[in-house]
Amino acid sequence: MDQIDWDNLGFNVVETKSMFTATCKQGETWQKGGLVPYGKIELSPAAGVLNYGQGCFEGTKAFRTVNNRVVLFRIDLNAKRMAISTKRLCIPQMDTTFFINAVKETVLDNIDYVPPLNKGTLYVRPIVWGTSPAIGVKPVEEYTFMIFVSPVGPYFKDGVRPLNLKINKDYHRAAPKGIGNAKAIGNYSASLYPLTEAKSEGYDEVLYLDAKDDTFLEEVGSANLFLIKDGKLITPKLRGSILDGVTRDSVMKIAKAKLELDPIEADITLKELYNSDEVFCTGTAVSVTPVGSIADEDGVHSLSDGKIGLYTRKLKEILVGIQREEVKDDFGWLFPLK
Ligand SMILES: Cc1ncc(COP(=O)(O)O)c(C=O)c1O
Repeated sequence: MDQIDWDNLGFNVVETKSMFTATCKQGETWQKGGLVPYGKIELSPAAGVLNYGQGCFEGTKAFRTVNNRVVLFRIDLNAKRMAISTKRLCIPQMDTTFFINAVKETVLDNIDYVPPLNKGTLYVRPIVWGTSPAIGVKPVEEYTFMIFVSPVGPYFKDGVRPLNLKINKDYHRAAPKGIGNAKAIGNYSASLYPLTEAKSEGYDEVLYLDAKDDTFLEEVGSANLFLIKDGKLITPKLRGSILDGVTRDSVMKIAKAKLELDPIEADITLKELYNSDEVFCTGTAVSVTPVGSIADEDGVHSLSDGKIGLYTRKLKEILVGIQREEVKDDFGWLFPLK
């Protein structure tokens, strides 16, 4: 194992010991598979994934806890979402138990790469794609599933400062009735151009509006969005084009059970966003990250004086506390591995 600089982890790929791989044909079920040394793969230039984007993935993390255990967080929800994504992309629907066992096996074999407490987490990336060749547009015959892992630090390079988001009405992330609610690879390729443009102008991420009316908030390129107004926690209603985030669900449950904040799923306008008391985004990679400003065609709107709001801080503390076993896991969300 190469020496890893645990004190300076970014959100980058670090090669680890092994990766999981399995294959499945149309009409069959996912089974067996196993670990192979981490490395490159061979692929036909005509592979379904390369030509028609037939691929989807998941993102989850393994955490080292204060009890020096390694735990997965709500992996059952990632497994369910993988089943939804595979079905939508005409990939043999992945069985949830198969998925969970494969993730556990991969993390256990790479346990030495789970960063020490306070240094980071082990990001886990299950990915599945159409392997066999196709020249006409159709679902291909054979599929490959892999899981690789990488020790990571904060997603945004300056760590925990509030984010500056950009709304750009020239682009949408996902269409209604499209594949926005699946974790399809194509959703991310669509977001690269607006993201690159926003970053070159000094913003951290893009905040997308709904593709039908350009009126309601959807989500950030890699995270869900929340606002707090008058003691209510409000997040965009899932209307088919928004990803149903594991962290989104967790934050709503924590808010209700621990902070007496009523979670509401609604259509949210920009006016409501700018009038809110606190804004933050949620995701496996970003955890709970406050939003300090939002720029649109009318200029920059500052939020919460650019500071982390009280509720945002509490929600983050409880979520991270559960993941680190500092706060009791009343919800039964942890899957201990070791
Ligand atoms: C587009 C998008 N929305 C939301 C999320 C948050 O989902 P989760 O909390 O399951 O990580 C992600 C992934 O992190 C994402 O890629």
